[in-house]
Amino acid sequence: MCGIIGYIGQQPATPFLMQGLNRLEYRGYDSSGIAVRNGSLEIHKCIGKINDLESILPDSIEGTTGIAHTRWATHGGVTDANAHPHCSENGKIALVHNGIIENARSLRTRLEKEGIHLKSETDSEALVHLIDRELSNGAKPLTAVRRTLKKARGTWGLCVVFEDHDMIICARNGSPLVIGIGDGENWIASDTLPLQSYTQQVILLDDGDLAVVTSDGIQTSRFDGRSTDSTVTTLEDDWGEADIGDFPHFMLKEIHEQPEALRQCISGRLVLKDGNSRLGGLGISPKKLQKIPHVRLLGCGTSLHACQVGRIAIEHLARVPALAHVSSEFRHNNPVIETNALHFAVSQSGETADTLAAVKEIQLKGGDVRGVINVVGSTIARQCGHGCYIHSGPEQAVASTKAFTNMVAALSMFAIQIGRARNLSQVRGKELVRAFKKIPEKIEHYLKNQGPIQEAVDCIKDAKSVLFLGRGVSAPVAREGALKLMEIAYIPCLAYPAGEMKHGPIALLEEGSPVVVIAPNDSLKEKTISSIHECRARGAKIILIHEEGDSIAEEADISIPVPSTESILSPMLTVVPLQLIAYETALQLGCDVDRPRNLAKSVTVE
Ligand code: F6R
Repeated sequence: MCGIIGYIGQQPATPFLMQGLNRLEYRGYDSSGIAVRNGSLEIHKCIGKINDLESILPDSIEGTTGIAHTRWATHGGVTDANAHPHCSENGKIALVHNGIIENARSLRTRLEKEGIHLKSETDSEALVHLIDRELSNGAKPLTAVRRTLKKARGTWGLCVVFEDHDMIICARNGSPLVIGIGDGENWIASDTLPLQSYTQQVILLDDGDLAVVTSDGIQTSRFDGRSTDSTVTTLEDDWGEADIGDFPHFMLKEIHEQPEALRQCISGRLVLKDGNSRLGGLGISPKKLQKIPHVRLLGCGTSLHACQVGRIAIEHLARVPALAHVSSEFRHNNPVIETNALHFAVSQSGETADTLAAVKEIQLKGGDVRGVINVVGSTIARQCGHGCYIHSGPEQAVASTKAFTNMVAALSMFAIQIGRARNLSQVRGKELVRAFKKIPEKIEHYLKNQGPIQEAVDCIKDAKSVLFLGRGVSAPVAREGALKLMEIAYIPCLAYPAGEMKHGPIALLEEGSPVVVIAPNDSLKEKTISSIHECRARGAKIILIHEEGDSIAEEADISIPVPSTESILSPMLTVVPLQLIAYETALQLGCDVDRPRNLAKSVTVE
């Protein structure tokens, strides 16, 4: 969703801002803009891509202080006027804002009554006029921002620049902001990705923080005026390249990065001699693992599907009841929280508002939540305190791929760990660990021998809808395949546990209907074959993901083999052809693969 980048220093700000905006593109946006302090405040903004903004910029903008924004419309349509930055009537203050001001309507009405002409329909614009009013009444910039925020209700990550003061004031409440520390220069951004090529030293603002950032100083304080000592965090070197390299799209790059991403995730965590795995960051002793009455996993979209795989792995290997929950529903159902139970919040971005809200609900009721997160230092990771990073490296395509594999890996490692603390034998543990360690090379092997993906694409690209079926651990994989195809190729997709097909979705089938079936060589395979027969009897075309060398291939119209592994670990392999089918179909249909319409990478509103 919306992104922020700011720069203050000795060098021209605009190149930093434009580069930052390019790095923020992955979050999803529909307009962008910059404000640079160049004598007066120079503001340029427009709807469309960053290239469109670039095309309306003058050849050079001199200033060394500026802020910029990518907007994903919430309050007000996609228009130039609604794009950020917003500025005060006298043009002396400009503001960019992520989040939602819930009482914007009443603030706007009051301002209008005072004769202020609001130029946009946004909630954010009200803030800049309120700051202006405070300044006109004699307040200093920080006080003006603080007093304004006291009148606002909602969430914000915001930056303000002033014609008359060489500083950027930023504030965080519910929408992340990171300050990157340089030598005689500083940056501000809504996530660490745009900062990583400039500095590894950052301050992660907390909710309720404000900061006055100048070229040679950063002063942080709390909402109530207390000054704070800010902790400087050193960013870990991300193993992954944030640049697209030789790939045509980030999604394809990220699909191909899965073997390496998985190696990063499992490295040092799988212990063959004990037949165990060790997720040290969870901070849970074997004694505690033995007493956990149940595990609940929370996530959205792809992360939810990873939770559903994890749930099955935990029950299967540890014989502990486990449930996967849709984060956005969780807190609204007044959940009963068992304080001895373990909860996992699973999120690539670590910023998903629905999952964050669920975490807070659990904590409010005394529950214990651990994060399974990709982005280091993200809000959910910090809110949970303990957890396990999945180390996928930067994931920039909106459609999540390598994060899914690594979430499944992390949760499967946890399943082994809790299993070993309970009844899973060392012998069985060793078999699993041995198989686990081979998965990266098996994904590599598959990526070199992808099978008839194009044939599958030809079969589904003009379909009215596509049905995905799987059983057991493959049922969430089917859901993930359906989500991928739907979100980037805009084809309506349904995913069902194969046995449910005859209870309703079978009505959709007619001559030529494509049905994608995920059927690894597990104990459920025979039952899945019955579902395949039911589909074929109605003329459906079967695209079958199965294990290499398995005679089930004969049941398929299009057979896509993947290397075999322990069936509980198979989702890390069977999902890969589904990702490729979605990618190639979207490409063939001329869709914007990396930035599908209406979607955002980091969904920071509930
Ligand atoms: C699908 C996709 C989304 C995200 C969901 C949760 O490809 O990317 O469904 O999985 O928005 O995002 P995170 O994992 O950042 O919480």
